[in-house]
Amino acid sequence: MDRDPAVAPAPGTPRPAPGGLAARLTRRKPVEELVDETGHGEGGSLRRSMGLAQLTMISIGATLGTGIFVVLGEAVPLAGPAVVLAFVVAGVTALLSALAYAELAGMIPASGSAYSYAYATMGELVAWVCGWCLMLTYGVSVAAVAVGWGEYIDELLRLTTGTALPAALTQPPGADGGLVNLPAAVVVVLAMAALLGGVRESAALNTVMVAVKIGVLVMFVAIAATAVRDGNFTPFLPLGTAGVSAAGATLFFSYIGFDAASTAGEEARDPQRDLPRAILLSMVVVTALYCLVAFVAVGALPWTEFADSEATLAHILTVVTGTPVWSVVFAAGAVVAIASVVLVVLYGQTRILFAMSRDGLIPRVFSRVDRRGIPRANTVILTAAVALLAALVPLGHLADATSIGTLFAFALVNVAVLVLRRTRPDLRRRFRVPLSPVTPLLGVASCGYLMLSMGAATWITFAVWLAVGLAVYLGYGLRRSRLAAPAERAPTD
Ligand code: ALA
Repeated sequence: MDRDPAVAPAPGTPRPAPGGLAARLTRRKPVEELVDETGHGEGGSLRRSMGLAQLTMISIGATLGTGIFVVLGEAVPLAGPAVVLAFVVAGVTALLSALAYAELAGMIPASGSAYSYAYATMGELVAWVCGWCLMLTYGVSVAAVAVGWGEYIDELLRLTTGTALPAALTQPPGADGGLVNLPAAVVVVLAMAALLGGVRESAALNTVMVAVKIGVLVMFVAIAATAVRDGNFTPFLPLGTAGVSAAGATLFFSYIGFDAASTAGEEARDPQRDLPRAILLSMVVVTALYCLVAFVAVGALPWTEFADSEATLAHILTVVTGTPVWSVVFAAGAVVAIASVVLVVLYGQTRILFAMSRDGLIPRVFSRVDRRGIPRANTVILTAAVALLAALVPLGHLADATSIGTLFAFALVNVAVLVLRRTRPDLRRRFRVPLSPVTPLLGVASCGYLMLSMGAATWITFAVWLAVGLAVYLGYGLRRSRLAAPAERAPTD
């Protein structure tokens, strides 16, 4: 920042505005205030302990997971060998938004991430909607990822012992004789235990898990590359460019998570310098790995053989080597990989809730931290909710809605870049989106395009989610916001 964040906001900075409903819905939180309070929360503050390596690992940890281990197998039948292009299409959409995140995370290193950027630029209602969408991106998606973890545990058991867990313990009520999805709940509780153990400890655990998942993907590339045949790439576009778009929309899920480092803004030692780097570095690593894995996968196995096969990558290893040993190693790696997504995404959600609670938009219990700077009650309450969701609810459309909610939040982040460039050109930017306003506008357009390519059922789920969020805001946050004038403010609990 050019100006000491502790001093009064610059002239012209929007101030909290009491008054009519419109003024209350659009009240904005000055950037200086957002930055200043990161060290001085009423309920205590988080501790700064992470450097560039850990922050990068947080973003990679949240990103590399079910998308590459499971969803790739579903995307190949949509695009054929051109699935490699589909990864590029989805990656470009993600990269445009990653650039916007990098600029804002370096300027406003608050744990609320996109929610905080929206609060500074578009006002409280949009910020709330953004935070509510992030609950889909983080809270609901972590439940969906936990369910995917349970499936891989089952697969691993089957491969190693020949037996599987009973359906009653691996499916939610109402699905195939299910009673409770126990493994899904267990991985969420394990992630909670790690988070309560401390941020440094969790970051160290995540770093080990990220090393394992990169290791097994590199192993996959090395083995499958020996079986790549030119013939498997022709025809390259068997289903045309429409197939590439459809696969791109599906594969966008695999890039969700690159923004996770931005939720660690209040626990980074030098957030202004390291957050933009961590976000962009993780995008480079992840995109390179995805394209390599997709290239050797479709090069080693004819694309028509991908249909109806869940554990396709493990299957490729068995076909290429003639022994199941490598697929067991791969499945074990997938279990570790997906667990790290659960850990980091759960972490990210606790930090976003922390920021929203500090602003008074959700109960204050979410922003209380213990002596070690850990938001303990926040973590336990969130874990209980996510574990119940993962164990008991067939996630179906709700999981699809995570991508649409994420795209909406990403679009808002691009808009926030444009707004702040106009309203606060004076703020120091450690990283600037190149070619603005063209790049952020392309970011908005690409997010909008992928949103429009999603089905009606997903849109309906999303609309219902937003309507519930609006009701919660009008019933709670509007009057308890810390930006509300003292006379109108209801006590927070
Ligand atoms: N990108 C994350 C995954 O693929 C959500 O699991």
